[in-house]
Amino acid sequence: MTPSNHSESIRRKVRLNKTFTDQKPGTSGLRKSSKEFEQPQYLESFIEAVLRTLPNVSGGTLIVGGDGRYGNLPAIDVILKMGAAHGLKRVITTTSGILSTPAASHLIRTHKAIGGIILSASHNAGGPDGDFGVKINGANGGPAPESLTNAIFECTKELEEYFLLEGPSISLKIPGMHYINAMAVEVIDGIEDYTTLMQRIFDFDRIETLIKNDFPIIFDALHAVTGPYAKRILEGLLGASTGTVRNGIPLEDFGGGHPDPNLTYAHELASLLLDSNKYCFGAACDGDGDRNMILGKGCFVNPSDSLAVLTANAHLVPAYANGLTGVARSMPTSAAVDVVAKDLGINCFETPTGWKFFGNLLDENLITLCGEESFGTGSNHVREKDGLWAVLFWLQILAEKGCSVSELMTMHWSHYGRHYYSRHDYEEIKSEAANDLYARLKKMLPTLVGQAFAGSEVSLADDFSYNDPVDNSITTNQGLRLILKDGSRVIMRLSGTGTKGATLRVYLERYVPKTGDLTQDPQRALSNLITGINNLAEIKQRTGMSRPTVIT
Ligand code: G1P
Ligand code: ZN
Repeated sequence: MTPSNHSESIRRKVRLNKTFTDQKPGTSGLRKSSKEFEQPQYLESFIEAVLRTLPNVSGGTLIVGGDGRYGNLPAIDVILKMGAAHGLKRVITTTSGILSTPAASHLIRTHKAIGGIILSASHNAGGPDGDFGVKINGANGGPAPESLTNAIFECTKELEEYFLLEGPSISLKIPGMHYINAMAVEVIDGIEDYTTLMQRIFDFDRIETLIKNDFPIIFDALHAVTGPYAKRILEGLLGASTGTVRNGIPLEDFGGGHPDPNLTYAHELASLLLDSNKYCFGAACDGDGDRNMILGKGCFVNPSDSLAVLTANAHLVPAYANGLTGVARSMPTSAAVDVVAKDLGINCFETPTGWKFFGNLLDENLITLCGEESFGTGSNHVREKDGLWAVLFWLQILAEKGCSVSELMTMHWSHYGRHYYSRHDYEEIKSEAANDLYARLKKMLPTLVGQAFAGSEVSLADDFSYNDPVDNSITTNQGLRLILKDGSRVIMRLSGTGTKGATLRVYLERYVPKTGDLTQDPQRALSNLITGINNLAEIKQRTGMSRPTVIT
């Protein structure tokens, strides 16, 4: 650490020329295009509302960092100056402002911070023409609950001014201790604490032996935040060869790519695993490091299956060797994990889409693992989903089992049966068309029960709502569900994270028991359901799209 740097700053009150109320209700922050964020006073207005609403700001510690996208460093500068004006005692930030979402969650918890501000638009593209975001996390390290974000939103409506301490900016080039008047700014290496946490959870020696024993792996950081983490852990500590981490340097525009680890946006990695024999294992993470995609030689692991496999094999990981208290999945995630939970005799909770719904269950120790179909898996080690953690979890299982990814999947299905699963995303639809399509299907739901659908019969058709078993809060309108007599499910939601038009998500699932055909292509296995929902909801006619933008 360099010696402390003090600077005298002057407290200023700045009048807002405009009221900004862009925050979407129900989301844990503000996500908009970089252009919108560049409007004068736009970021400041939101940060002011956050600092006025977050409990215990005066005298508190705040964690700040981001995924390195365009706007990251200037935003940290603004937050430091405004945080000092609001009486924070300490801000912990990182060199170059690089901090993954799970690493931020960990820092909030270990430093008993009042919360964190994570600068990221997650898996959305970055750069001047991309998106930017400010995500608020609470004192438990998880995404801010709706009560807090609603209060922040209410505050933005009435704001007339914001406060900052005006003075020189702090350099984040190297670790060091600084002061803005009375507020301490600790610049730390954002990778170190997270690496230590991973070493506590997994048996690094076993994974190292696997990797060094002719098991070539490849990891794609997509020029986003996980590059430096993956280099230190995979190449530095686990003995993977130099170059294992592709696209490992975080870039402001992610090299022009879309930092979303799926078969469409991480297609180069997918092709290295699916079309060549070079690697035994491949993985990628998203912009802020909370999502993961797992691939084996010639084999893509569906995220819903991944959660089920992690649950079934958790006892092989030192941190979970004593068993799991329970598991949870978001409603659109396939029921593959339910079957494993039943087998293990543990509870399986079904929550709405969004990580914040796992927070209470984790805090109350009702669950140990949880996940979403959208490439998100995590555990009680932090309060966010965690991309690299999932990669290490997979490597640990493969090290212990001594088999390939595809062998593991085959063994899993032949024991539990297979949940064929796919998600079809229709992106950038005109909002009006998407809303009309959705409203029409919602209205039809009551008439569908008992009707024939995709070779079966609809046994339940509703708009999912969730009753939180911990705080008894009820969350309604979480997605349209068609559940069929044969156990198949078709679900439809409108995305809450897109920034251009609307994104329609259609989730398709069909269960085949272990005695059935477990080797079909998922799109083929689901073709009846796909045709059924396309016709029922008139997707093609109403969106003008002949096929989905992304098929997972
Ligand atoms: C998407 C995913 C959801 C995830 C969220 C944040 O939200 O579907 O599972 O929690 O991103 O990573 P959506 O765009 O569907 O609202
Ligand atoms: Zn993310």
